[in-house]
Amino acid sequence: MIITGKTSVIGLIGNPVEHSLSPVIHNYFSEKYNLDYVYTTFKVDNSSIQAACEGIKALNIKGFNVTVPHKEVLLKYMDDIDETADVIGSVNTVVIKDNKFTGYNTDCLGFGRSLTDNKIDIWGKDVCVIGAGGASRAVVYQLVKMGARSIHIFNRNAEKAAALSEYINKKLNKTNCNGFALNNIEKSLKELTYSLIVNCTSVGMHPNVEDCPISENLKVSNETAFYDIIYNPRVTKFLNIGQNNGCKILNGMDMLIYQAVYAYEMWTGIKIKIEDINELRIRLQTESFL
Ligand code: ATR
Repeated sequence: MIITGKTSVIGLIGNPVEHSLSPVIHNYFSEKYNLDYVYTTFKVDNSSIQAACEGIKALNIKGFNVTVPHKEVLLKYMDDIDETADVIGSVNTVVIKDNKFTGYNTDCLGFGRSLTDNKIDIWGKDVCVIGAGGASRAVVYQLVKMGARSIHIFNRNAEKAAALSEYINKKLNKTNCNGFALNNIEKSLKELTYSLIVNCTSVGMHPNVEDCPISENLKVSNETAFYDIIYNPRVTKFLNIGQNNGCKILNGMDMLIYQAVYAYEMWTGIKIKIEDINELRIRLQTESFL
């Protein structure tokens, strides 16, 4: 890829951004489809968000992703907000047209696509989610949209789980979310066979690879799929539980890839082919990127 004076800049704002895989993903797409874009990261602290947004417009940057801790605050700098981003109150992708920002959230779609691609069907099924933060909000939203029968949200802070389920029920006009304290999860797992259990906390993420949000010697039905939105390490202690019980397991790599695919397609108007996504997944699995 040769960068010239004509190359368009796209990128990521967040803090920290040093370990992000997004540059690897998006620059792979540009190279693959021979598009004249370069994707880079911009470390932006909380006090510089407004300046960063003005700078992005002034510098004619073509589009950008947003990561922690700016996904929620960015909403107020948008000229227009897509319905999903509006409901979940967070933006991870900004499309720029005529110097106007439109905020999207492709995490939801990315999560949904990872389920369909991996043949995890949740339509009419009972599912459970651990965590009640920003990531969990996107996941719960998508689970409701994809027709889960019930969604039990377990969180260390039970009030947050209750607040998230109430919020989603109200916004999506449903009644299928319920919030509980995390220490009730083992009892629920014994009483009910969930089709899917998703870890949406950062517990178990590198470098704290020995941590696990639930008890490691838990017995679960092998009909329950285990999904961890963490992708480093590839198999967390949480996914280990699934493995030990003969369950299907899935880490956060596909969600990461697909949220990027949707963002890149929005910025460039192209359609990324499945074989290229598969090649990218293999490339990302080489340890050197993690
Ligand atoms: P994100 O945007 O990644 O979801 P967040 O909004 O800070 O991040 O949410 C982090 C989630 O991980 C929360 O649900 C948090 O639980 P609390 O609300 O009780 O704090 C959960 N979490 C973080 N550390 C945890 C731990 N050691 N045990 C259990 N849950 C934890």
